[in-house]
Amino acid sequence: MTNVKNRVLILDFGSQTTQLIARRVREAGVYCEMHPFNLSLERIRAISPKAIILSGGPASVYDPDAPSVNKAIFRMGLPVLGICYGMQLMAQSMGGQVEKGVRREYGHARLYFAESNELFYGLAVKPASHQVWMSHGDRIEVLPTGFKAIAWSENTPAAAMRHESLPLFGVQFHPEVVHTEIGMDILKNFLFRIAGCVPDWDMHSFVDTAVREIQERVGQERVICALSGGVDSTVTALLINKAIGHQLTSIFVNNGLLRKNEAETVLAFLKALNLNVRYVNASERFLAKLAGVVEPEKKRRIIGEEFIHIFEEEANALGDVHYLAQGTLYPDVIESVSFKGPSAVIKSHHNVGGLPERMKLKLIEPLRELFKDEVRGVAKELGMPEELIHRHPFPGPGLAIRILGDVTRERLEILREADAIVLEEMKKSGWYYQVWQAFAVLLPIKTVGVMGDERTYENVVALRAVTSLDAMTADWAKLPYDLLGTISNRIINEVRGVNRVCYDISSKPPATIEWE
Ligand code: XMP
Repeated sequence: MTNVKNRVLILDFGSQTTQLIARRVREAGVYCEMHPFNLSLERIRAISPKAIILSGGPASVYDPDAPSVNKAIFRMGLPVLGICYGMQLMAQSMGGQVEKGVRREYGHARLYFAESNELFYGLAVKPASHQVWMSHGDRIEVLPTGFKAIAWSENTPAAAMRHESLPLFGVQFHPEVVHTEIGMDILKNFLFRIAGCVPDWDMHSFVDTAVREIQERVGQERVICALSGGVDSTVTALLINKAIGHQLTSIFVNNGLLRKNEAETVLAFLKALNLNVRYVNASERFLAKLAGVVEPEKKRRIIGEEFIHIFEEEANALGDVHYLAQGTLYPDVIESVSFKGPSAVIKSHHNVGGLPERMKLKLIEPLRELFKDEVRGVAKELGMPEELIHRHPFPGPGLAIRILGDVTRERLEILREADAIVLEEMKKSGWYYQVWQAFAVLLPIKTVGVMGDERTYENVVALRAVTSLDAMTADWAKLPYDLLGTISNRIINEVRGVNRVCYDISSKPPATIEWE
């Protein structure tokens, strides 16, 4: 746990937007941690938060097995902000009454202040009513003794409340979503005016602390790290490199499934960053293992296993290594402990799973407290080139899961060329930096076309470009027709073996970002 002084605890009741609360608090410069709602009082005390935020959630507080909290948290003297379900839970726990509302309130609503107070500080000058975002069916019918309603909406007489003497606040709307225009003001008022936090969370101090912690933990031991050239693994390696220099060996495995010129580009980047990199070109091994395999999960399994074999061989060749560094991020950590439990495995992800136990390596995960945008901040601090910082995520199994059907050298070549055109045009137009990912997919079918006077019977390439915050959900990017036209023309004219290009207009869910 970081040693910053100002910490906020978020208790999660399963809302879709709990992670957003955490991100907003961090954006305000205050470190926060998200934990399941039933965190013990002992753990809460150990975290020593300056304030607690109770998230929203899908349950009704009057359900017999509704998630709840130890009421003692309202008497610890700590400021508590309940959001949506969190507010209703606070009201019910303190003796109020929550019932099913006459009407559900979902989406945009107008909020009217009933008074000015610390939570609404600075907002009185804004219009008399404010746009907020609501998502609830229940509402507070009777406020507990000592509380008063401080805002109302058309459907909700108590759209916000506060205690008259204790630092307890509740809001029925969601301040964490962008549609609540005054949301960030309200969160900042809670953090700074009510909880007395001082913003002391920034990536510069994070780097200092992380470096010190790594030095203390690792001492003179040696560390290995699997590098992919992606932002997370590179930042992990850079941070450890800053702390212990060449006690770290990074291993970069070329699995033969990388994009055009990727191995060379990544290697040049890594060397320029002064990392101690061991490059292993294992293309032949991977392609031989994949020959004739068309089933997506089988491809993933083969690639994952082969990667582990190679990594293990390389690590053994290095001799006495004690630690394995991984670029685990906070969303991975939260997902595995969250209220809903680990989310279902839809696609098995490629990582070094199982390796630490097999090789008796201790794990070191310096980014496990950070969100992706914070990792990019650290990357900047560590002098990573912009081009690397803004690289799109690329899956471990690489192009194998973007070639539907058999992965052959010839098909890899076609996809690499098409994909390179997609990236080049996306960058040229600036759209690369506005989407989460953009890439080409090679389909396992051929279609008829005509080139000159000749009938052709060639491959189809699908384009995929999505916008997303965290890859959990995604929407297809509304790329301009001109750009789509240019990409399509160039692929059909320049890539031999392709006579048709389609654009994927599916969102996630129900589709996934990758095609396999
Ligand atoms: P899906 O296709 O599940 O992808 O919507 C979500 C995000 O994860 C990436 N992805 C992977 N990343 N190993 C990885 O390291 C994998 O096996 C893998 N499969 C998908 C995908 O590119 C997207 O960003």
